[in-house]
Amino acid sequence: MRKIVIAGNWKMHKNQAESLKFVQAFKSKTENTDESREIILCAPFTSLTVMSKNLHGSRVMLGAQNIHWEIEGAYTGEISGEMLTEIGVNYVIVGHSERRQYFGETDETVNLRLKRAQEYRMKPILCVGETKSQRDAGETENIIINQLKQDLVGIDQNNLIIAYEPIWAIGTGDTCESTEANRVIGIIRQQLDNKNVTIQYGGSVKPGNIDEIMSQAEIDGVLVGGASLEAADFARIVNYQ
Ligand code: 13P
Repeated sequence: MRKIVIAGNWKMHKNQAESLKFVQAFKSKTENTDESREIILCAPFTSLTVMSKNLHGSRVMLGAQNIHWEIEGAYTGEISGEMLTEIGVNYVIVGHSERRQYFGETDETVNLRLKRAQEYRMKPILCVGETKSQRDAGETENIIINQLKQDLVGIDQNNLIIAYEPIWAIGTGDTCESTEANRVIGIIRQQLDNKNVTIQYGGSVKPGNIDEIMSQAEIDGVLVGGASLEAADFARIVNYQ
């Protein structure tokens, strides 16, 4: 059985007070959410502690947006698995295209981060996806197969979520056609040893397109940026029809 996982990625948005306000408004909107759906908020590091305290006993799980591959050491600006798990973080996004694009993340470092997350028994959300020019050149499948091949070396597929996020669809309002996202996610599944890995779609997911996206057979959830910042919008997404 594949698990449905709906995750919000707040990126570099919301201070502690704003995060707390969101949690207070959002929690009650998820009380009747179908129990088979897992709900995750991936917040900035500075909000995780206050959110952890306030999400206790609710349906909503907590995720981070990065984890370093070393246990500790001289790595200015990075965060360790111990620092995250100590405060109740159970999920972590790894290899988001914004990390790959702006912060020099490579498939090699993605792989190291995934390994460390799993060692700390956190469930990583691995992001893969192609640029517009790669898509236009007909390279989508090759790019994604290659990313998976390198990112997943030595990774336990029983403790993993994958998010297909076509880079051209992120923050642009230019959602990938749901049938096309379904097709690429089917290709991703073919590459996996464990066919029951949850595979999400991400890229301009909104209250207005969530029902259509979730009606696709291969799509097991979504990773939501902009539309996860408003409690009412994200609640509508979580409670899709
Ligand atoms: P948007 O939903 O804002 O397009 O962002 C998607 C994303 O990058 C989630 O990780």
